[in-house]
Amino acid sequence: MNETKHVHIVTFIKDKIKKGEWTIGSRLPSQRQLALLFEVNRSTIVTALEELTAEGLIQGKTGVATVVINNTWTLLEGNVPSTWNKNIKLGGHQASSVLVQEINEAESDPRLIQLSKGELAPDLFPLQQMKEVLHRVSDQLTSFGYEEPKGNRQLREAVSVHLKKRGINASPSSILIVSGALQALHLISVGLLQQGSTVYVEKPSYVYSLAVFQSAGVQLKGLPIDREGLSLEALQKVPFRPGHSVLYTNPTYHNPTSSLMSLSRRKTLRAVCEEKQLPMIEDDVYRDLWLDEPPPPALKARDTTGSMLYLGSFSKSLSAGLRIGWVVGPDAVIDRLADLKMQSDYGSSSLSQYAATEWLTSGLYEEHLTTIREALIYRRTLFVQALETYLAPYATWTVPTGGFFIWIQLHQAIDARSLFSQAKEAGLLLNPGSIYAEPSGSYIRLSYAYASHSELQEGIRRLALIIKTAIEK
Ligand SMILES: Cc1ncc(COP(=O)(O)O)c(C=O)c1O
Repeated sequence: MNETKHVHIVTFIKDKIKKGEWTIGSRLPSQRQLALLFEVNRSTIVTALEELTAEGLIQGKTGVATVVINNTWTLLEGNVPSTWNKNIKLGGHQASSVLVQEINEAESDPRLIQLSKGELAPDLFPLQQMKEVLHRVSDQLTSFGYEEPKGNRQLREAVSVHLKKRGINASPSSILIVSGALQALHLISVGLLQQGSTVYVEKPSYVYSLAVFQSAGVQLKGLPIDREGLSLEALQKVPFRPGHSVLYTNPTYHNPTSSLMSLSRRKTLRAVCEEKQLPMIEDDVYRDLWLDEPPPPALKARDTTGSMLYLGSFSKSLSAGLRIGWVVGPDAVIDRLADLKMQSDYGSSSLSQYAATEWLTSGLYEEHLTTIREALIYRRTLFVQALETYLAPYATWTVPTGGFFIWIQLHQAIDARSLFSQAKEAGLLLNPGSIYAEPSGSYIRLSYAYASHSELQEGIRRLALIIKTAIEK
């Protein structure tokens, strides 16, 4: 056994306890996680934990998590201090599901083949151009203070031009710059939706993997979706309560199914929503990622009544780390959201806003789209070939015409949790359909955008093996 490592682990854990980062009652990571963290075998961890147990700092039983039972102060004084840990469940905002939290953690684990990530691969990040953009930005820097409530004026002007090219007429005054489309969903849910009201969404939907609407006291109701998008038949039958219902839709390369709403369905959807006076949120963050041909115009492109809020973002097509997105709507609504944004963060990072402006006004963004389109087409081909080679006996899928994802339907359902865990054991990260409210165990969302070419193939080979073993049990 490595003596130095063992002492190092004991010191590390004591330090966490001493600093109040692992408070009394906190669970320690599992022995397996600790062994991975310190790159030692389990016996070294066991020895370290035994020493801490003997000192009275932790307690653990077989099969149950090891917890902190004392800190150095209580060992000396014998009283249990009050800590923030008791408040964890008291806040109004709901936690993500355990599975979503686990996926979020595992997405930064470089040892896993990332078939889950809704993000471009590191080699598709335009590093050189980003360096040039930041260089130009740094040359133009003046003061570096708070921006206007709706966001940097030049960026809003640039977004207005960008949207115009996509058929959407939006003045800078009707655009709010946000820290990603997700922030727009937060602002809308706390600022524009009444408690007890209903948001109709496609089912499955990305928003089911978040608690953003539910935490604002708003319930989600799912409507079926097919290859052409949201089912209008189902929508027509819904008894809406005017003022208490809105529709959230992701019609262009829908997350998780990649379904693309047809032009005719877009027209009918607009007509139905107008007739039923149903306000709409159109989430269009994947629009620029078309692969075969440009998608039909956004629903927002034909909105003359101001009944649609439109969300866009740079996260999927350029950089998620910039945290730059936008929401478009009637001026008064944007004013309201801008006020809430001021109350929450006083605006998105100036540096990111300057960089985003430069990307748009220099023409680099449109050039970059052409480059990533080619790369994604190649990745899609490779991935579909791997699916056909390994997964065809067990599943079906539709080849997407844009976006990142392939929605896999298994011939035989497999418990989502166990599939996820087995995949992770095999070094593979995937998103079970259950996190998007598809509980049957028959669906998985896979992404061809992030993992390397060889990993895409190897990942599917491993997945097929796991599925084969599970169904033959
Ligand atoms: C449909 C959809 N909307 C919004 C977002 C959030 O994007 P952003 O990074 O811009 O907040 C995502 C990210 O996965 C998404 O898939």
